[in-house]
Amino acid sequence: MAAKNESPSAGVPVPGAAGPGAKGGGERPLPERPLHVAIVMDGNGRWAKRRSLPRTLGHRAGVEALKRTVAAAPTLNIGWLTVYGFSTENWSRPAAEVAELMALPKRYFESDIVRLERDGVRVRVLGQRRGLSPELVRMIEDAQARTAKNDRFNLNIAFNYGGQADIVEAARAFALDVAEGRARPEDLTAAALGARLATADSPPPDLVIRPSGEQRLSNFLLWESAYAEFVFQDVLWPDYGADHLKAALEVFAGRERRYGAVLPDDVLAAG
Ligand code: FPP
Repeated sequence: MAAKNESPSAGVPVPGAAGPGAKGGGERPLPERPLHVAIVMDGNGRWAKRRSLPRTLGHRAGVEALKRTVAAAPTLNIGWLTVYGFSTENWSRPAAEVAELMALPKRYFESDIVRLERDGVRVRVLGQRRGLSPELVRMIEDAQARTAKNDRFNLNIAFNYGGQADIVEAARAFALDVAEGRARPEDLTAAALGARLATADSPPPDLVIRPSGEQRLSNFLLWESAYAEFVFQDVLWPDYGADHLKAALEVFAGRERRYGAVLPDDVLAAG
C-alpha cells in the first residue's frame, strides 16, 4: 500500500512541519510502528588516516559510535537496528586488521553486555560462525542467550555476513527440505525463502544508512532491502551519533514509499 512516511524523529523540531497530530512547537508525530534501520558502519579507516592513527584505532572509535547509536535509537522509535560489522569479503584485509576486527565484538560485549541486558535489548549476531574462533562463537552465543527474552529493542550485528551467501544458504536449506520430502519445489515463495534467511526474525529494513560518503550496498541485506529507503551521509562512522541518526530519519520522513504501486491521487490525475 502506498503511504507517506510519518517522521520517526519525535522530539526533533522540524520548522513548519507541524500537522494534524503533531505536538506543539513544530514537532512531528511518532510513526505508528517502530522502524527497522540498518547501517553500513563505514569510514573507520579514513577517520584514523586523517588523524595519522593506525586503522585499528579507527575501528575502536567505531565501537564507541555504535554505543552512541544503540543508545539513541530506541528514543527515536527505532525498534530494530541492524549494523554491518564484518562482511564475508573483509577476510581479504591484512591479517592484523582482520585480527582487530575479530576482537571488536569481544570489546563491545565485555563493556556493554550488562547494560544491553538491563536495557531490554535483544542481541542477535547474523552471519556464518564458520571461520570465527571458538572463543568468539562462545561469546556471541552467550550474548544472544543472555538477551533472548528482551523485547524493548532489537540489535542485529551482521558479522561474517554476506547478503549473497545468506541467500545461497537459504536456497540450500530449501533444497534440502525438498530432497528430504519436507517441501515441494512449488512451495518456494519469497516468504519461504525469507523465512530461511538470517534476518527471518526481523521485519525488512525501512531505512538503510551509509555514512562516509560512499553510496554502495556492499553485499548488505540484499534481499531484505528490496523496498528500503537509502540515506547516504557525509560523516565518517567514528563521528556518528544521535544527531546524525535524527538527520537521516528526517530525510526518511520526507520520502514517499510506494512499494511499486502508485498513489491514489496519481491514479485520479491520470484519469
Ligand atoms: C568499514 O570501514 C568498517 C568495518 C569493516 C568495520 C566496522 C566495525 C565497527 C564500526 C565496529 C563494530 C562493532 C562490533 C561490535 C562488531 P573501513 O575500515 O572500510 O573504513 P574506510 O572505508 O575509511 O577505509
